Order: sequence, then structure tokens, then C-alpha cells
Amino acid sequence: MLAIYRHHIQQGLGDLGAYEDQPMLAEDLKQRRKNMRKRRLPHLVAEAEGKVAGYAYAVPFRKRPAYRYTLKHSIYIHPDFQNAGIGRQLLPALIDACAQAGYLQMIGYIDATNEASLRLHEACGFQRVGFLKSVGFKFGHWADSVMVQRALGQGDQALPGPWPILEAPALPVPLGQSKPN
Ligand SMILES: CC(C)(COP(=O)(O)OP(=O)(O)OC[C@H]1O[C@@H](n2cnc3c(N)ncnc32)[C@H](O)[C@@H]1OP(=O)(O)O)[C@@H](O)C(=O)NCCC(=O)NCCS
Repeated sequence: MLAIYRHHIQQGLGDLGAYEDQPMLAEDLKQRRKNMRKRRLPHLVAEAEGKVAGYAYAVPFRKRPAYRYTLKHSIYIHPDFQNAGIGRQLLPALIDACAQAGYLQMIGYIDATNEASLRLHEACGFQRVGFLKSVGFKFGHWADSVMVQRALGQGDQALPGPWPILEAPALPVPLGQSKPN
């Protein structure tokens, strides 16, 4: 998982110049997976030939309780296993896991030049709902993102039932106390 992360995130930006991101360590990844499991957020791993070939996970779209039914997700396949149909298995598994956990909408942000990811998401029922211009900077130029979305289960066709996720939504903060975004 670390190799996948390093390849796609840390090296996937081109020359970072003076910008030094904190390197992801095995312990950080373990902690992240543990926290996500505790909060019933799916974090799935695909295996091929006895190796970790990819992973996919979803986190809250926004922290405020009004957005509690919506997740945003990421999916990364190891470079040795790309374009071999693993994304086509892993993304539907993530969608099912999010739906089973009671979420109703999924959002993804995809680099506008990432044909593979755009095709994968469209094949899995996502629609392009937004175009974000020059929100990234990598390999020496500005990068646009496409926002994609799909409903889970009944989506917005009915009002949501009782909040099924174990972690209760945050309680209102009494006046005078600040709450981070
Ligand atoms: C994008 C990514 C998740 C796709 O997963 P994958 O396992 O490589 O893709 P699959 O083999 O399952 O193919 C999925 C679709 O993409 C197409 N595809 C795969 N690689 C492609 C490429 N290099 N160029 C164009 N289309 C491509 C496939 O033909 C397939 O489309 P189809 O179902 O219409 O035939 C994976 O390549 C990846 O991790 N890329 C780097 C990180 C990344 O971009 N993550 C997504 C961030 S939003």
C-alpha cells in the first residue's frame, strides 16, 4: 500500500521544488485504516498474485452533520497491475460497501486528463457533475479536475431513515465554543 501511495501521490506530482510533503509511514497507514474501520468507513484492498494490487477507500465528503450521507472516495492500483481489470472489480466493491454502510451519495474528483479513471467511474454509474478549473498544480502546470457523483441505494428518492452509522453525528456546539470545519 505504501508503494502504491508513494508512486501515485508523492511521485505523481512531478518536481515538488521547495514543497516537501510529510512522507507517509507504515504506522500512519495502519492508524488511518484503524480509524476508518472504527467509523465504519470502507477501506478495501485488492490482492493479485499474493500482492497488494490496489486499494480504495471513502471518507466523509464534509465534516458537518448535514453532509453525513455523502462520502468522497479514492482508488489506486499498483502500476504493475494497472489496466488489468482490477479497478473494474475494486470500485464496484467499494460502492457496495458504502451502500451497505448506509451512505446515499458518493463523490469523486478526477484529474481531467485521467481517461482511465473517467472511463472506470462512468462504467460504474458515476456522472460528471462539475468541472473545477486549475485546482491542482503538477508536472509544472495547472491541472483541472472533474467531479463525479453517483447515488447509492435509494439516493435522494426518499427521505433518509434513522442515521445507521455507529458514530453519532456531532452534537451542536454550545455558543462560545468554536468548532473546526
Ligand atoms: C485509474 C485506475 C484506478 C483504473 O484502474 P485499472 O485497474 O487500471 O483499470 P481497469 O483495468 O479496471 O479498467 C477500467 C477502465 O479504464 C480503461 N483504461 C484502463 N487503463 C487505461 C488507460 N491507460 N487509458 C485509457 N483507458 C484506460 C479500461 O479500458 C476500462 O474501460 P472499459 O471498462 O471501458 O474497458 C488505475 O489505473 C490507477 O490507479 N491509476 C492511477 C491512480 C489514479 O488515477 N487513481 C484514480 C484517482 S481518481
